[in-house]
Amino acid sequence: MEKKRVAIIGATGAVGQEFVQSLNNHPWFEVTQIAASERSAGKKYIDAIRDAGGIISWSVGGEIPEYIKDMTVRKIDDLDVSQLDLVFSAVESGAARDIETKMAADVPVISTSSAFRYEDDVPMLIPGINDEQAELLEIQKKNRNWKGWVAPLPNCTTIGLAITLKPLFEKYGAKKVMMTSMQAISGGGKSGVTAMGITDNIFPYIPKEEGKVKKETRKILGKLKDGKIEDADIRVSCTCTRVPVIDGHTESVFVETEKEIDPSMAKETYNQYNKDISVAGLPSAPEKYYAFHDDPTRPQPRMEREVGDGMTTSIGRVEKEELFEKGLKYVLFSHNKKMGSGKGAVLVGEMLYKKGKI
Ligand SMILES: NC(=O)c1ccc[n+]([C@@H]2O[C@H](COP(=O)([O-])OP(=O)(O)OC[C@H]3O[C@@H](n4cnc5c(N)ncnc54)[C@H](OP(=O)(O)O)[C@@H]3O)[C@@H](O)[C@H]2O)c1
Repeated sequence: MEKKRVAIIGATGAVGQEFVQSLNNHPWFEVTQIAASERSAGKKYIDAIRDAGGIISWSVGGEIPEYIKDMTVRKIDDLDVSQLDLVFSAVESGAARDIETKMAADVPVISTSSAFRYEDDVPMLIPGINDEQAELLEIQKKNRNWKGWVAPLPNCTTIGLAITLKPLFEKYGAKKVMMTSMQAISGGGKSGVTAMGITDNIFPYIPKEEGKVKKETRKILGKLKDGKIEDADIRVSCTCTRVPVIDGHTESVFVETEKEIDPSMAKETYNQYNKDISVAGLPSAPEKYYAFHDDPTRPQPRMEREVGDGMTTSIGRVEKEELFEKGLKYVLFSHNKKMGSGKGAVLVGEMLYKKGKI
């Protein structure tokens, strides 16, 4: 089988590096071109991620894959789109809109940025959760007269919430949700949070994050109808905080449901979803999509972040919530750079490839 030729743009950043790792020896995709800002353009990848003091800033852990070390980083304008089947975009959000528009005119783009998320003809795909919304990409292509499309991932904080809510929404009619996040430092990108600022500290505010979570959750759990996504009838309130954890977001969730629910029913539901999950067998899919813990000391970032290579969503502390007539509270853990961005975006690529869209 001939592999699809892919480019990573924003390859030098925190999420870009996750793409580099997730696409190493990928059975279906081969990285043939990479790009970043003018600062990195023209350099070999290994030199582009070296700081002024000579220190190589590789944030993924493990070895830097050999295939990328000597590849030259291009300017966006120097990418040869005629030689590409797909672009993975991890460019800084301010620059993403123009760059992704330009790319999608010729080739499909899967992006971790928020630039296109809220447009009517753009689905925010989480494989296993709302695969059917992928059909909207055909409409987007036509609307915009593009050869490609843009498929953005949701925000990394929304991803864990939407994944855990989906079974509760479908089966028990989740209608109101309150969530407090404890988000990892790496979610702010390579220059987002300083060590002095976050050590021994918690930031009680992350700009724009809460609005994204509210809007995105309703869209992801919504239904594709007559060429549009009808938002789910669910109300979401949240407080998003940044904590001194390197990787992986933890979220405390309270959910009111229409139907009676208790922890054992929730456990059974997640176990059933694990058996039926659509992504089973895709190269980047975890063996277990959900990990349900009875142990009240789980989930913890240090214990969960390697589970399923960061692609498993962990759920614990599940209890009946007495504040509501019917409902639950629980704590979830989701890896912001794996399922929540780089590797999650590769999983979107695999799902769309299987559907024949790439
Ligand atoms: N970090 C997370 O957990 C996370 C999760 C979900 C989504 N996201 C989203 O993913 C995107 C990347 O985030 P990040 O955390 O990886 O950011 P980052 O570490 O700051 O990296 C940004 C990347 O964009 C490149 N870039 C900046 N301006 C550019 C331009 N004008 N043209 C081309 N490339 C440009 C940078 O290249 P240089 O190195 O050359 O400057 C770098 O490769 C953002 O949109 C972010 O919101 C991040």
